[in-house]
Amino acid sequence: MNTIKSRATTHKNVIDYYEKAGLDYEVWSPNFNMHFGYYKWGMNPFNLEKMLNQMNEEVINRLFLEEYIDPLVLDLGCGVGATARYLAKRNFEATVYGVTVTPWQVVFGNRLNHNAFLANQIDICLADFNDLPLATECSDGAYAVESACYGNGPAKKEFVNELYRTLKPGARFVVADGFRKHSNRLPGILDTIYKRNMKYWALTELADIQLFKKELENVGFKNIVVEDISWKVAPSFVHIPKTVIKFLWKRCLEKDEKTLVTERKNNALAPLYGMLMGLARKHFGYYLISGEKPTC
Ligand SMILES: C[S@@+](CC[C@H](N)C(=O)[O-])C[C@H]1O[C@@H](n2cnc3c(N)ncnc32)[C@H](O)[C@@H]1O
Repeated sequence: MNTIKSRATTHKNVIDYYEKAGLDYEVWSPNFNMHFGYYKWGMNPFNLEKMLNQMNEEVINRLFLEEYIDPLVLDLGCGVGATARYLAKRNFEATVYGVTVTPWQVVFGNRLNHNAFLANQIDICLADFNDLPLATECSDGAYAVESACYGNGPAKKEFVNELYRTLKPGARFVVADGFRKHSNRLPGILDTIYKRNMKYWALTELADIQLFKKELENVGFKNIVVEDISWKVAPSFVHIPKTVIKFLWKRCLEKDEKTLVTERKNNALAPLYGMLMGLARKHFGYYLISGEKPTC
C-alpha cells in the first residue's frame, strides 16, 4: 500500500519543512503528537502530553467506533502516527491506515509503530489526501488532526470530496484544526502575522470555517457539528514559549550543525505567531468538526 502519487511532488514545501524540522517535534511531545492539546476541567494544565493525548481522545470519541467490529479508520495527514497509535492502543480491533505526503514520516512513523508492537494494526503510507489511492467506501471512520489546513483553497474542496468518497455510508469523520472565521482582509499587523505563520508552517491558507462547513454540506454529509474549542486548546498554547526556549537550549548543545536550517528556525517561530493569532478571536478559532455520511 506504500503508493506514491505523482501529485505528491507538488507538495515540495510541506515535504521540505517536515523532513527538516520533523524530529524537533519531540521537544513538544515525546510521543510526537504534532498538534495542540485539549484541556478538560480537572486536568493538570502543566501536563502538556496529557492534554495532547486528550485531543486524540476527543477526536476518537466522536467517531463512534464502538458501533463497528474490526473498524478500518483513515488518518488523513497522520504525521508520524501519534493519534493512530493512541487509537490502536485503545481499540485492539481497529486498523488504522495513515497517509502523509512526507516520505520521512512514513519511514519514521512505521518504525515507531513497530517499536510499540502496533505494526499489525497501523500502516503509514505515502499518499495525498486530495487524491487518495483507496477504493470508494472503504473506511468505517476518518479523521484529520491539524492536517486539513494543508488542503487547497479556503473550503478544502478536494480534501472534503475524498473524505466523503472513501467513507462507508453511515461512517463518521472528525476534523480538528485552526480556522479563519471569515475570508475578508485581515487588519494591518494581523495580516503580516498570519502570512508569516502560514509561511513558517509551509501552509498556503487556513480553511474558512463557514466555507468548509458549506463544502461538507454540499458534498452530502449530515449531522455536522461544529464545536469552537478555542478555550480548551488555549492552555496548551501557553506551553509554546517554554518549548521554544527548550528547543533553543537543545540547539546550543548540538555541536555538529553550526547554522540552524530555515525550516527548523521557522518551526520554532511559527507557534509564537500562532499564539498571537489565537488572541485574535474575532478572526481565528480552533474547531472540532464532526459529521456522518448518510446511509442512503
Ligand atoms: C501538523 S502535522 C499533523 C500530524 C498529525 N495529524 C498529528 O496530529 O500528529 C500535518 C501533517 O499533514 C501532512 N500533510 C500535509 N499535506 C498533506 C496532503 N496533501 N496529503 C496527506 N498528508 C498531508 C503532513 O505531511 C503532516 O504529516
